[in-house]
Amino acid sequence: MNNEIKTALEAIQNGKLIGLPTETVYGLAAPFNNLKLIEKIFHVKKRPFYDPLIIHGHSLNQLKPLIINWPEICNVLAEKFWPGPLTLVLEKSSIVDDMITSGLETVAIRIPNNELALQLLKELDTPMAAPSANLFKQLSPTKASDVKEVFSSKDVFVLEDENCNVGIESTIIKIDEKLITILRPGIIDKKTIQEIVKSYGYIVEVSNNDKITSPGQMEEHYCPTKPLHLFIAESFEKAKENASENYEWTVLPDDHLIAARSLYSSLRKASQSEKEMIALYIKDSYLIDENWVGILDRLKRASTKIINPLGEL
Ligand code: TXA
Ligand code: MG
Repeated sequence: MNNEIKTALEAIQNGKLIGLPTETVYGLAAPFNNLKLIEKIFHVKKRPFYDPLIIHGHSLNQLKPLIINWPEICNVLAEKFWPGPLTLVLEKSSIVDDMITSGLETVAIRIPNNELALQLLKELDTPMAAPSANLFKQLSPTKASDVKEVFSSKDVFVLEDENCNVGIESTIIKIDEKLITILRPGIIDKKTIQEIVKSYGYIVEVSNNDKITSPGQMEEHYCPTKPLHLFIAESFEKAKENASENYEWTVLPDDHLIAARSLYSSLRKASQSEKEMIALYIKDSYLIDENWVGILDRLKRASTKIINPLGEL
């Protein structure tokens, strides 16, 4: 067994949480059946108990006992997307404690695409609940050092790995009868899911934010430590035309995959500048590009103001 994994298993025995690398963002993990440690997750993150956690598994065999109704379509989705950045919300079995699901009858599950995480889950032989390893409402971590900056080594052992490749949190979907609802958009977009499920008679919808179907999807979230203003315009020059001098500017790369990967670290870096506020330029064509839905979702929640000459986002 890899030494790091051995140390992680000992850390859990000693009452520590694990900084778990995944392909999306770092998680703050504990065995799903260790309620003392699950409570500690909420405590150290300052997370309210109404915001439920995702349970991570190494395999379908490890996750299926958490679910009472396993629709056939989940095998198709798992085959296509797991390990990977897709989370399924399904009816929970009685072994999943209410603390994890905030009292809901459903539980969120996924298999992360990260070698170290998969090894730990396999050796531990128990699924782990893990929210993102940030303080509630703040920027999500994409590096081991982001986690170490926020949490004490007394409470958390961080598994060191490369930077998280996807960079934004998983796409969360809920399955009811023949309807699949996207509760949180991510890198796996609606079109891609639709293509996989349509021959099975499913339709895919994006959740309407008016109905709070995913309790953690609050308006303000993913916030940097300084005000963030989003500037939407046809060019960077246009965006800057009437802006004040007080901004540290961030421009995302045109490729949505690279933009997602660097999003949180760019905002972190911009927060550290001497300027009072952060400005982020968004090309107006991204607003109608499906590839950017997940990134724009995070930016809308992270920003305190949106400057869009075309009106509401
Ligand atoms: O990529 C990810 O999903 C990362 C990595 C660590 O796996 N995790 C993550 O966890 O983003 P967290 O806790 O920051 O966000 C999980 C969200 C919650 O805010 C909640 O809205 C939603 O998942 N969720 C969890 N259980 C749910 C349920 N039963 N029904 C609806 N939404 C649920
Ligand atoms: Mg989070």
